[in-house]
Amino acid sequence: MTSGRQPESLVIAGTGIAGLHAALTAARQLPAARITLLAKSSLQESNTWHAQGGIAAVLPQGQRSAGDSWQAHARDTIRAGGSRTNTAAAEALCQDGGARVRSLLESGAPLDRDADGSLSLTMEAAHSAPRILHSGGDATGQGLASALIDAVLKEPGITVLQYAYLTDVVVRAGKIAGATVLMGGSVQHIPADAVVLATGGAGQLYERNTNPEVATADGVAIAWRAGAALADLEFFQFHPTSLDVPGNPLISEAVRGEGAVLLDSAGERFMTEYHPDAELAPRDVVSRSIMRHLQRTGERHVYLDARALGRNRPEFLAERFPTLDGLTAKHGFDWTTEPIPVVPAAHYWMGGVRTDLYGRTSVEGLFAVGEAACTGVHGANRLASNSLLEGLVFAERAVEAMTSGLIAQQLETSDSATHPAGLRPHELPEGRTTPFNRHELQHLMWEHAGVIRNSAGLETAARQLNAWSALAQDSRTVRDHEDENLLTAARLLVAAAAAREDSCGAHYRTDSPGEPTHTAETSRPYARTSA
Ligand code: SIN
Repeated sequence: MTSGRQPESLVIAGTGIAGLHAALTAARQLPAARITLLAKSSLQESNTWHAQGGIAAVLPQGQRSAGDSWQAHARDTIRAGGSRTNTAAAEALCQDGGARVRSLLESGAPLDRDADGSLSLTMEAAHSAPRILHSGGDATGQGLASALIDAVLKEPGITVLQYAYLTDVVVRAGKIAGATVLMGGSVQHIPADAVVLATGGAGQLYERNTNPEVATADGVAIAWRAGAALADLEFFQFHPTSLDVPGNPLISEAVRGEGAVLLDSAGERFMTEYHPDAELAPRDVVSRSIMRHLQRTGERHVYLDARALGRNRPEFLAERFPTLDGLTAKHGFDWTTEPIPVVPAAHYWMGGVRTDLYGRTSVEGLFAVGEAACTGVHGANRLASNSLLEGLVFAERAVEAMTSGLIAQQLETSDSATHPAGLRPHELPEGRTTPFNRHELQHLMWEHAGVIRNSAGLETAARQLNAWSALAQDSRTVRDHEDENLLTAARLLVAAAAAREDSCGAHYRTDSPGEPTHTAETSRPYARTSA
């Protein structure tokens, strides 16, 4: 059923690639609508801004790698995501990819080119062909976001509000009626008949994460409070290689794509013993293998060895990865001469607000796009460099739905994903008030709901999270709201992880009956006898 109306007032929350592209597209296609774009911090502060590796897409014939096709990209996406991937979403993502790269170029995005002027394409793990576009070497997010921000700021139809934090959406008679925004210390109501949650991810759920401070699960928590269906919350991706220094900065997958290998403290490659594709296996496999290896050796980190990449041309690393060259040097490493210490870290949430392929949630007028959404496109494990593309493709499709007057809900509100098993309002334990502290929550989540899980750990996490639950109720500052959202999201994630007893993609339980149901995983017995 559709209402056949276009939005008159549209609020878009989030200024990563999905929010920026949604705002630009809406300004062009919905000229009569009032469009308000909210940035909870500055316009630049988003996961997109910090993205390194690139954006995966298959370009038109003549510009793509020999033998590549959008169908091959879709196959890789589905294979990496295991049994949970939504095939239609993966096909939409990959089929629309070339056109969305064209939109990016039209918006002025400075994608890197080879000496002959063609767009430069590189390889990343679990892709069957070089199809990763990048910008500034390893500063892809910054390059793309800067171009989109410039375009947004030139667009008179978009009202941009920075340091404007969406605390909740207003739902009346089952439909979106507005947005509540905390701005300059006061709460304001913006009337709206459509709200797009492009609020990004939730890396701040975990002690080790690659995300910026703003990634606090806001969209999932807001949608939950609005009664929207959520999905796949147990699937959180841990990136295999963050630098093992405070803050866990990301070391791009593209470094392994260029040929870097993982070593243990004995200087031996170990990924070859866990998967035939070794360092280029799907991300969940590499992260899990590293954690298993560390459990066996009792060590804190493994090493990423990029020395061979610079052997014949010492300037290669600095040219191809200027950001990482500076980052490693800042932390006292010379990666041209020594392997650098790396550990897995929380990176991307495959789960989120359940949507159809047009960003529509189960609440009329409420849309979700980008990392906040769950179309099922990434299944249980996202393929490298598919997230920037996801932001573009599904933001475009959400605006297409609005332009066509298809605002009304398409998803069944009775979906069981709305209420993951085990999540109920909880009381504080008798007579105790446990102070709520973000770092404690992050530590708890890393220990018990991280790369390797089991029922006892998940129960411990649930008990503690429930004990904390009543303490973050009376929110005032942005930090209070974020903590409340993190707590809500942590409880939902843990409940979903406890309910899924099998291992699947990034959700790995040691107490599940078999190896993960991952089509790309070979269950090789561990063969090493010593570190
Ligand atoms: C990376 O550069 O490794 C991150 C890219 C991604 O998460 O897709």
